Amino acid sequence: IRCQSTSTDEPKAKRNLLDNASNLLTNFLSGGSLGSMPVAEGAVSDLFGQPLFFSLYDWFLEHGSVYKLAFGPKAFVVVSDPIVARHILRENAFSFDKGVLADILEPIMGKGLIPADLDTWKQRRRVIAPGFHALYLEAMVKVFTDCSERSTLKFENLLDGEHSCGGEAIELDLEAEFSSLALDIIGLGVFNYDFGSITKESPVIKFIFNLSTPGLRKDAGGIAGHNVGGFVALEKGKYYLMLVYFEAVYGTLFEAEHRSTFYIPYWKIPLARWVVPRQRKFQYDLKIINDCLDGLIRNAKESREEADVEKLQQRDYLNIKDASLLRFLVDMRGADVDDRQLRDDLMTMLIAGHETTAAVLTWAVFLLAQNPSKIRKAQAEIDSVLGQGRPTFESVKKLEYIRLIVVEALRLYPQPPLLIRRALKADVIPGGYKGDKDGYKIPAGTDIFLSVYNLHRSPYFWDQPHDFVPERFLVEKKSEGIEGWAGFDPSRSPGALYPNEIISDFAFLPFGGGPRKCIGDQFALMESTVALAMLLQKFDVELKGSPESVELVTGATIHTKNGMWCKLRKRSNGH
Ligand code: HEM
Repeated sequence: IRCQSTSTDEPKAKRNLLDNASNLLTNFLSGGSLGSMPVAEGAVSDLFGQPLFFSLYDWFLEHGSVYKLAFGPKAFVVVSDPIVARHILRENAFSFDKGVLADILEPIMGKGLIPADLDTWKQRRRVIAPGFHALYLEAMVKVFTDCSERSTLKFENLLDGEHSCGGEAIELDLEAEFSSLALDIIGLGVFNYDFGSITKESPVIKFIFNLSTPGLRKDAGGIAGHNVGGFVALEKGKYYLMLVYFEAVYGTLFEAEHRSTFYIPYWKIPLARWVVPRQRKFQYDLKIINDCLDGLIRNAKESREEADVEKLQQRDYLNIKDASLLRFLVDMRGADVDDRQLRDDLMTMLIAGHETTAAVLTWAVFLLAQNPSKIRKAQAEIDSVLGQGRPTFESVKKLEYIRLIVVEALRLYPQPPLLIRRALKADVIPGGYKGDKDGYKIPAGTDIFLSVYNLHRSPYFWDQPHDFVPERFLVEKKSEGIEGWAGFDPSRSPGALYPNEIISDFAFLPFGGGPRKCIGDQFALMESTVALAMLLQKFDVELKGSPESVELVTGATIHTKNGMWCKLRKRSNGH
């Protein structure tokens, strides 16, 4: 569901009509099979003027941590409680599938892990998970530092050059910069493809030109009005490629979101894909991405060197030319898989690992820029651990404060803010904090929004829930009589570099939990730690405007409406 922050001055009559329709539906649906579950009486017009997850938060405070929301002709159960989350994600995980989310993502990701049905998921998770082994992550830290260095060098050049205002500061949309950085990294990590080194003469650019791109739009807005114009500072060739890539990927996601909110599935009508312009565009975008991935798979298969998983995990990852997951998956003995499945897997990881990480960095900077003392604390740690050097796998372990900043940014701005599930069979879910002790019966087919945003800002489980306090993760928190919740205890997950759902007993779920937990969590966390450390090592950051002027928009992740415009200065202490 796409929610965009828009102005609230729509005609009153329209708002009343929406309210009445919503109330009728709510009343009609509230007599349904969900027993005594509280029902949010919110009006549809509440959904205008602010992103959806803000409204879900208000209703959470009003109705409790499990409530039912009638939303158009659909009804959802909204969950904002760790005990219920634990039930759905871990204890009874296989009684739920991805429901609406799978419907939305299937045309793009096919049978990739995120939307996959249970049988496919079981088979592919077993094959893909070993790809994220320790040596791979170590090799990736080098990729993170190489790519981050490319970004910081670019900023330094801009500061030294004509773009700086009086040689002191540059103004940059850091959201766009992080998006570019995360794309470089995910391209290398997943299929050893360096988007960042693309020039106009590269075969890929020629390949794309050969597709004779019709009507490539300069305003390729994409899923959340992403400001592609932010890339103009990049090399021209790269800009063009990224434009094509963003155009295709965002265009595809945008269409998926459109389908999720459009009640008549007209795209299923024969010939619609050829006749309806937006469906033609969707097919075209898919073709660009799929052709590109098919080419990469072909190349990898041509140079296949088959080996057992253990052997693959012991390769000299720091020195081999291609450390990517694609290489691992193609070379794995016994994992012969058709190209279509492999392409779905790659596409899923490309999308899952790109904007999510970019968003973490964006919101971390947003929060830091409002807390200069925390920037100084972070820089003091960076100076003492790294000096002028580059981060390594070992030094990430010492950058404790930076790691805490990353997870605190994920607490306040979880990506995605909602997890989606559908009950495959009838179940009884716990009642949640202050809810019905006997729990609530839910019939098969019930759609659930698990609001990670609400959970992460729940006043029942966090002190000062809206404040940016990275240090909070170091402090043990007793359950204080909350029945069934084990409290917050860092010793519960010994050796974990980053706080997780186990430590928090499902009150902190930035990567989900249970069997379908994110497969790239450590990859993404280390990537964010390295990128943030290297930025703060060199620069001081300030917001260009007020924090209030940064408007939120949600698609799959929380974005800004018009970019995260910041002022960047070289650090005053001579670094
Ligand atoms: C699943 C978040 C980065 C690949 C998930 C889920 C979350 C999540 C919340 C669970 C979804 C659900 O239960 O419905 C994030 C965040 C990231 C990130 C916040 C960055 C900060 C990555 C990266 C990759 C990746 C870098 C791959 C390289 C996946 C995959 C799944 C997944 C394949 C599906 C797992 C399964 O169902 O078995 N991610 N992710 N993610 N993520 Fe991530």
